[in-house]
Amino acid sequence: AQAEDWTGRRLLVTAGPTREPIDPVRFITNHSSGKMGYAIAEAARKRGAVVTLISGPTSLDAPAGVEVIPCQRASEMRDRVLERFGECDVLVMTAAVGDFAPADIHKEKIKKSGDQPLLLNLQPTPDILKEVAAHKTHQTVVGFAAESENVVQSALGKLQRKHLDLIVANDISAPGIGFQSDFNQVQLIRGADAIEVLPRLTKREVAGILLDRIRDLMPPARGS
Ligand code: PMT
Repeated sequence: AQAEDWTGRRLLVTAGPTREPIDPVRFITNHSSGKMGYAIAEAARKRGAVVTLISGPTSLDAPAGVEVIPCQRASEMRDRVLERFGECDVLVMTAAVGDFAPADIHKEKIKKSGDQPLLLNLQPTPDILKEVAAHKTHQTVVGFAAESENVVQSALGKLQRKHLDLIVANDISAPGIGFQSDFNQVQLIRGADAIEVLPRLTKREVAGILLDRIRDLMPPARGS
């Protein structure tokens, strides 16, 4: 039905986990598979958008017709997003960006020393969405919120703190949705009294509905 309704729109999507090195063989990451972000990128491309996908390490194939920019660390993802943000109309951050990274990356493999514990000094990573807000001109900015408790309250806090137009909240403690799954159950939140609760759907279906809602939030395309 929606056919080519994203024609002329430029969408920037982030997907997957970030990977923070500890030493040459070890890293800190999370369970994100990239499926949610890749589903959005693929659906938007099919609806006519020009899509750039900034992706942490995943085992997924690049969706046809989508430019994929790989990255690993949160700081790299930040750099790639800021490089491309100015030329996009919409940013959707599905990436599970690690919140902490080792302060020092060891050049050599850390050796085990008897029964001595290993202490890692972790520093907060840059908050990409917060930084992006400072560069916002005409863009519509959408975040995701991975929550395990107080889902709506926590997501509302992120909506405000990160200056978002919309936040997609999912309960990552619920079985059969969220990380890795082909399914998700989300709430689309624009404010305390503007919450749309969706049923459990495939990530492809969630992507379709999300693109409908973002399309309705965007200012009219130039030349239309
Ligand atoms: O990849 P899948 O296996 O398909 O799983 C999908 C998903 C569960 C990863 C996805 O649906 C999801 O919830 N993504 C958001 C994960 C996350 O990092 O949530 P958060 O609540 O910690 O962060 C809130 C928002 O800020 C997110 O849009 C995140 O991309 C962004 N962020 C977070 C940290 C950071 N340093 N910079 C950011 O911009």
